[in-house]
Amino acid sequence: MAQISPSLLAANFAALGQDCRTVLDAGAKMLHFDVMDGQFVPNISMGVPVLAGLHRALPEAYFDVHLMICRPLDYIGAFAKAGAGIITIHLEAESPVGPTLAAIRAAGCAAGLSIRPGTPAEALAPYLDQLDLVLVMSVEPGFGGQSFQPAALEKLRAVKQMADAAGRSDLWIEVDGGVDLRTAPGCVAAGANLLVAGSAVFGSADPAAAVRALGAL
Ligand code: DX5
Ligand code: ZN
Repeated sequence: MAQISPSLLAANFAALGQDCRTVLDAGAKMLHFDVMDGQFVPNISMGVPVLAGLHRALPEAYFDVHLMICRPLDYIGAFAKAGAGIITIHLEAESPVGPTLAAIRAAGCAAGLSIRPGTPAEALAPYLDQLDLVLVMSVEPGFGGQSFQPAALEKLRAVKQMADAAGRSDLWIEVDGGVDLRTAPGCVAAGANLLVAGSAVFGSADPAAAVRALGAL
């Protein structure tokens, strides 16, 4: 059974706190907070002050922060201070991966590493010891509402194998992009234990029911 991390990118930004409350009450384990800088990806979303405001309003919520930015190392302290629980960086970003992961843990957060669709799962291997979470992107990062790329399933299986071989049953294996009731079962079967869902949750007529349905898979 997988846990759900609804992506706030698809929420109503005029009622963000309320939308967070709705999905948490429905059983979402954490809240997926997508940060984009217009450089690493061709889109700009939200940043530190928005996270700080949500954290103040919902102190018990656990924020799963996905940094789609070129220089994550420069911002670890700020996101940690603003209330991040997990901070996930991209392997393809410019900051050195090992030191950035070390900085995340030194700041008191859990550390995640994500790979774009074009990056092989094996590239994660050298960092496994430093990771609490691996994020497999099942779309090209940058926008919500894209179609799930089935090649992600093979990658999830490879990550699961890697985690099993290392005795890492505690590792979060997260998948992000086009995850809905149709694509999620395959992800779970392939080893994902944390599902990010934006459109499938906040684009639905009943976000709470959507969280419960995904969480029951
Ligand atoms: C995409 C983001 C995702 C996005 C997913 O770059 O990382 O978290 O919000 O949206 P859906 O679930 O709509 O594909
Ligand atoms: Zn994301």
